[in-house]
This record gives sequence, structure tokens and C-alpha cells, in this order.
Amino acid sequence: MNVILLGPPGAGKGTMAEYVRGSFHLAHISTGDMLRDQMHAGTQLGMLAKDYIEKGILVPDDVIISMLEKRMQHEDAKHGVLLDGFPRTTEQAEALKHIAEIHCVIVLDASEELVVERISSRRLCGTCGTVHSVKHHPDLTCKQCGSDLYHREDDKEETVRKRYAVYLEQTSPLIDYYNQQGIVTRIDADQPVEDEVAQITEVLKKLTIK
Ligand code: AP5
Repeated sequence: MNVILLGPPGAGKGTMAEYVRGSFHLAHISTGDMLRDQMHAGTQLGMLAKDYIEKGILVPDDVIISMLEKRMQHEDAKHGVLLDGFPRTTEQAEALKHIAEIHCVIVLDASEELVVERISSRRLCGTCGTVHSVKHHPDLTCKQCGSDLYHREDDKEETVRKRYAVYLEQTSPLIDYYNQQGIVTRIDADQPVEDEVAQITEVLKKLTIK
């Protein structure tokens, strides 16, 4: 089963993926995490991506498509994937058709004000990447491994608003694109984590018994 999690920055794609992936044995593939790993490793791809990410704009399609294509060849991806942050343009969605069959697209709907508020309190673990909210977890150390937490460079309010505008312009048309294939389910992201996880779990359960 291959699933796309679509939604604006800060809607909770990464959080939801981490909650549900285990129950369905899906590999969580986040193109944003992959790019940040490259940035931290100081690779050529990471240096290229940094310029785009810090401006809140999309990394060029050809770079992302080739990175995703390679990742999809890993053993864990053969059993099913939760794609988080890919595709983000029609060109990426067209390329994906030749890489994997998509069974479901879950759209997490969230307003600009909600994501600005959430992202301002988001912190990431520098060691294991776990996402935290200082609103719910004011301690600045990771609850998984105890390492220090950091605020993403592209999480400044001005950049978040830019990323939201980029989402509306370049990514949200994919909702119609996949609606035409009848595989879209929309979920309100403005609800308690447990309720949202339960709704997504229901959607995925129905797919596994089809
Ligand atoms: P990426 O890393 O993909 O960022 P994004 O899509 O902007 O999404 P985020 O990671 O910011 O948010 P999220 O939806 O995962 O929310 P989270 O779970 O953390 O991309 C970054 C950049 O990389 C892009 O701008 C672009 O430059 C580049 N890039 C990546 N992919 C690309 C592609 N395919 N093509 C081109 N460029 C690409 O949750 C947010 C916060 O809310 C957390 O603190 C969390 O704890 C909290 N939270 C979550 N759910 C709830 C809830 N229900 N209630 C309360 N709090 C909640």
C-alpha cells in the first residue's frame, strides 16, 4: 500500500506518519528530512537544497525526483510507503506514476494561522529527528534520546508564510489531480493528535481489507 500525505507546512504530516507507519508496516519517506540530512552532511545536494529551503521555495523537480526514485529502490519501500512532502508539483506527480502505484492520498487541511502557530513552537531533535512541540513538551531535550532540540532555519514566521503561499500555488492543485482518480480523503488537521491518528488509521484499515 502506497500512501501520500499531502498538506501545508506544519499541518502534521511528519507527526501523523510517525504515529501510523508502524501499524501498517509502511516506510515513512519525507523528502524534507532527506534534504535536511544532506544539508547536515554538507553534501553537494545539501548545499544546493539549503538555498531553496531557507527561502521557503521548492527545490527543483529534477533534483527531487531523482532523489525519491533512488529512495524508492530501498528494500523497506517495497512493502509500502507513506510519502510525506512528495509530490509537491504536477511534474513530480507525473514522475511518480512511473515509480509507484498510489492507493490513497490523505490531505491534512490546516489554515495559515494554525500552521504559523504550530511551527513557532515546533522543535526537532538534532540526533534522532523526532518532532516536538514546546507547547506540549516545554523541556528542550528530546523525549526519545535526550539530545538537544533545535528550531528549523525555515521555521521563521516570514518563511512559513512564504511556504504556505507556495503550497497553495504549486501543491494544492494536486488535490484535484488525485480527486480525479477518486483516491483522496480529507482530514481536518485542527483536532487532537489522538483523534486525527484514529481517523487516518480507519482510512488505512479500509484500504488493507479491500
Ligand atoms: P518539509 O520538511 O517537507 O516541510 P513542510 O511540508 O513544509 O512540512 P513540515 O515538515 O514543516 O510540517 P509537517 O506537516 O510535517 O508538520 P509536523 O508533523 O512537523 O519541506 C521543507 C522544504 O524542503 C520545502 O520548503 C522545500 O524547500 C523542500 N522540499 C521538500 N520536499 C520537496 C519536494 N517534494 N519538492 C521540492 N522541494 C521540497 O507538525 C508541526 C508541529 O505541529 C509539530 O510541532 C507537531 O508536534 C505539531 N502537531 C502536529 N499535529 C498536531 C495536532 N493534531 N495538534 C497539535 N499539534 C500538532
